This record gives sequence, structure tokens and C-alpha cells, in this order.
Amino acid sequence: MILASEIRQKYLEFFRSNNHAIIPSAPLVPENDPSVLFNTAGMQPLVPYLLGEPHPLGKRLADAQKCVRTGDIDDVGDDTHLTFFEMLGNWSLGDYFKRESIAMSWEFLTSKEWLALDPEMISVTVFEWDANAPRDEESAEIWKSIGMPEDRIAYLPAEDNWWAAGPTGPCGPDTEIFYWMGEGKPPRGSNKGTDSKMWMEIWNNVFMQYNRIDANTLETLPAQCVDTGMGIERCTVTLNKMKSVYETDLFAPVLARIKSIVGESNYNERGARIIADHLRAATHMISDGVTPKNIDQGYILRRLIRRAIREAYKMGYEQAFTADIASMYIEQFSGIYESVKINAEKIKNELSLEEGKFSKTLKDGVREFDKIVNGFKIAFERSGQKVTQIAGSKAFTLFDTYWFPIEMTLELARENGLTVDMDGFNTAFEKHQELSRTAAAGKFKWGLADDGVETTALHSACHLMLAGLRKVLGDGVHQAGSNITAERLRFDFTHPEKMTPEQISAVEDYVNEAIQSELTVTITNMDKNEAKASGVEGSFWEKYPDIVKVYSMVGANGVTYSRELCGGPHVENSQEMGKFKIVKEESSSAGVRRIKAVLEK
Ligand code: ALA
Repeated sequence: MILASEIRQKYLEFFRSNNHAIIPSAPLVPENDPSVLFNTAGMQPLVPYLLGEPHPLGKRLADAQKCVRTGDIDDVGDDTHLTFFEMLGNWSLGDYFKRESIAMSWEFLTSKEWLALDPEMISVTVFEWDANAPRDEESAEIWKSIGMPEDRIAYLPAEDNWWAAGPTGPCGPDTEIFYWMGEGKPPRGSNKGTDSKMWMEIWNNVFMQYNRIDANTLETLPAQCVDTGMGIERCTVTLNKMKSVYETDLFAPVLARIKSIVGESNYNERGARIIADHLRAATHMISDGVTPKNIDQGYILRRLIRRAIREAYKMGYEQAFTADIASMYIEQFSGIYESVKINAEKIKNELSLEEGKFSKTLKDGVREFDKIVNGFKIAFERSGQKVTQIAGSKAFTLFDTYWFPIEMTLELARENGLTVDMDGFNTAFEKHQELSRTAAAGKFKWGLADDGVETTALHSACHLMLAGLRKVLGDGVHQAGSNITAERLRFDFTHPEKMTPEQISAVEDYVNEAIQSELTVTITNMDKNEAKASGVEGSFWEKYPDIVKVYSMVGANGVTYSRELCGGPHVENSQEMGKFKIVKEESSSAGVRRIKAVLEK
């Protein structure tokens, strides 16, 4: 068996021996690029150098780079998808180009001294051509000259053989290297073009020659560069002809440990894989300074941890275990990534802390469940009407707000002689997923089903902020529009001039005081005119029916912090909202200002 650790070590050694400086992995969180949350490819931290800036360590670099991609998180648990992965890469910044790059890759893969793969098991692809660039005969010739049979070379279009990190930036044609996954040796004439499913990509060599400025403009880079990428996990699976990444040395011991923790009879392979993947990603994220929060990277981290714990719950395991699993990863990666070694204690502490918070959320959920059951009892005593089914929307709230796995709701229901309206639950779930997909289409590409808590908290914050704005700036302030995602709120309001820093802090203080005051949120049905006359805040009154819902937020200190027309939902416990912060105040249009604000945990 070829170990992942061996591939990593040999790769770096090989390129060191070929005069490459081995650079440490950049942190997972990009340092100069607010447009992405995490590095998603090995080359990302090197973009400025590919564009022409000189690198302090020279023109030949190699590394193992930590990456995170969350776009396919729902697929994690199958044989191949991972959120965290390591990418091996070597770069020429205006030094060597196609010939040397291809020759080095070939030597590393096939030489007895290095991976010693059988050359007959390998095939390659090169760029076919399109309006941007010519057919890459040059790469094909180089491959042939070092012994690649012609029938193992496929010319494929840009869809396969053109690489770009994003809509703009450095890009170019690539040549990709594949390993035969079938039984025995591949038949003559077989290559990625003729036999696509049987060949698995192990390495991609991109010839960065261009810089995409916009959809219509492609400039030539100041120097011809090479960017290669080899995903360690996939490479290990492929070279060992394994079925899943979880069979590799990266994961197998962790899955065994999970099995011994939850017990053989409770063990579920898919759930264990999710735990193993998510806690591996969480370990690295925390090692790079991310902590669980309700925004940005911290928000992704929080979800990974909670999803992992939820899988353990599904297997009937409710005790703390995340730090234990993390310590296996800490041991595995301490010698490779300095950040993991230095932050070993912090990783375990943050995980345990979040685990504690989450178990409280789940307990709140159990209380909520008990309320539902009690409601049924009371209704039965009052009216003699026996309800035995929990509404789909209620089951969804348990899932969405309290992170209950649906399996858990079903089990609790069973224990209480009840059923759950699963059609209703599925409808609510699907609708919500659609919404969160739309919301996440921009920065997050997250598409998770369960982001209700954060959005709800920000919605409550919106109410408090509007009341604060009216207190600080006067009654001329009304809502002119709002947009809330799980990460932040955006709020437009009528006001003629820029707010001063003092006004901004006064509003923040107002909201934070309210949050700290143990708010109770009550909903009253009121006659619309009466509500308006009594000073309830609202915009678009004309859109509401005659009887309106008024949400009041009153602190334990007796202060009414907000009374506003609304349709909910709002938080149940304001102290879980965290700290309110206005991050931006700017003009939206004439007479309308715009605030962006977040809740920091
Ligand atoms: N940047 C190239 C990739 O990620 C090598 O595949």
C-alpha cells in the first residue's frame, strides 16, 4: 500500500532535489482575498506571484497546501467528497515551462527512486484548442518524446483542459495525468478520451500564460508560469485502487476509533465518515485561527462541528467525543503543519466548548418537544380531541432551530405514541433548502439546509436596531428595506445624513443592552389602526390586513426595547444572539442610508 504520508513526503523531497524552495502551507483563510472564505486550491495564495510579483524564495516553489471546499458538503459521506483536502503543488514563476514540467512529473511518478508506477497504467490529456488558445501540440510532443504512446494521449476541449481559479485571474491550458482504475492493464488505444470512466486524474499541470481580465479580455502574463496540483487524498485512493478515501491511512484509524467510541452495533458508516471529514476540517480551521461564530469562516466551522455531533447523536452517542477525534488528527498533522502543532490545546478546547454549547441547544430542543406533547395533552383535556401527529412545520423547527436530526424527532415521537407528518417536514425542508441555496449562491455556495438560527437572530437584531435608530436619530427614521442572510443583516432606512461614529455606537449600545436584558418576545394581535395610533413601528402599513401581529421585545428589567409590526420569526433567548456590531453605514439612495451589521459570538 502507498501511504498518503509517503506521497506527501516524497513529493516535497523530489521537488527539493529539483531546486524548488519548499514553502509552508498558507493558512486556510486567505490573507489578501476577501472574496473567498477559504483557500480552495494550492495556487490561490500564489496568485500575485503568478501575475508577476517576485517571490522572496525564488522562481521554483513547491508545497502541500491546506484547502477547503464546501460546495459539495451534502455529498460528504460518499466515497470521494471531502471538505478539507491537501493539495501538493509545484510552481515555476517564469522559470521552466512545459518541457521540464512534464518531464519532472513523469520522473516522479515512474522512476524507481520515487513512486515507481508502471508507465503502462498512465495516460494523459492535452488541450484541444479554442478561440483563446491553439491546440497544445507542444505538450503532446513532449509526452511522446519521453515515451508516452500516442494512443494514450487524448486531446480534450477547454471544459476539461483549461484551468482557472475563478472568473478572473491567471489561467491557461493544462495537461492532466490519469491512472488506470480497471482490472489488469489498460487495453491499447484506451485513454481518457475513449474510456473516460476507467481513468482517474491524479495530477494537473497548468501552463499559466494568460490573465483573464473580464469575460471578453484575456491578456498575456508577463512570464510563462507553471502551476500543478495533486490532491493527496484522491491520489492515494487511486494509486492503491481503493474504493473510498476512508480506506486510506488518512482516515482508516479515525473511523476505527469512531466505531470503538459509539460501539459496533450503533455504528453507521456514512455517519462516521461525516464525523471524520468534518472534524478533520474543523481541526485545521481552528489551527488557523477560526473559531465557531455565526458569520463567515466561523459559521462554516460551527456547522461542521455541529453536523459531526449530530451524526454521533444519530448513532445514539451523546457524550463528548470531538476533542478525542481531533487529537488523532493533531498527532497525524503536527509534523506537517506547524499551526496544528502549536495550537493543539486550542483545537481541543474550542471543540469541547462548542460541543457544550451545542448540547445546550439540543436540550432546549427537547424542552420544545415536550411543549408540543404537553400542548396535545392540554388540547385533549379541554376538547377531548386527540392529536397524535406532530405537524411537519414543528418537526422542521426542531431540525432548523434546535439542530434535531429528524431521526431523533421520529424516535421521541415514537416514545410518546405519536407520529410525524413527514410529507409536511419534507416540504418545509425542500423549501428551506431552495431559499438557502439562493441566499448562498453568492459568497458561500453552501446550500445547507439548516441555517435558521442565525437568520432568526439577525432578524430580531433588525427590530432592536430600528428602535435604537429611532431613539438616537429621531422619529423620522423608518425602514426602507432589508435583506437578511445567515451571515449579516442589511438594512435601509430613511435619514438625510451620514451617521456620526458616536451615533453608530449609541445604536450598537442600545441593541447590546437589549440583548443582555433577557428579552421576552411576545406576539399580540391588534387592530391595525389602534396599533398605528399607539406608536407601534411599521412600514408598508397598507400591505397588512386589518388585524396585525405586533412583536414586542421586553427585557427582564421591564424596558420595552421594540414594538414592531412583523411576521416573525424571532429568537427565544436573546442572550444567544451574541454581540451586535454595525460594520458599515453608507448612503443607499437620496434620503436613505444603509447599514450592514453582524452578530459576533
Ligand atoms: N491549480 C490547478 C488545480 O487546482 C493545478 O487543479
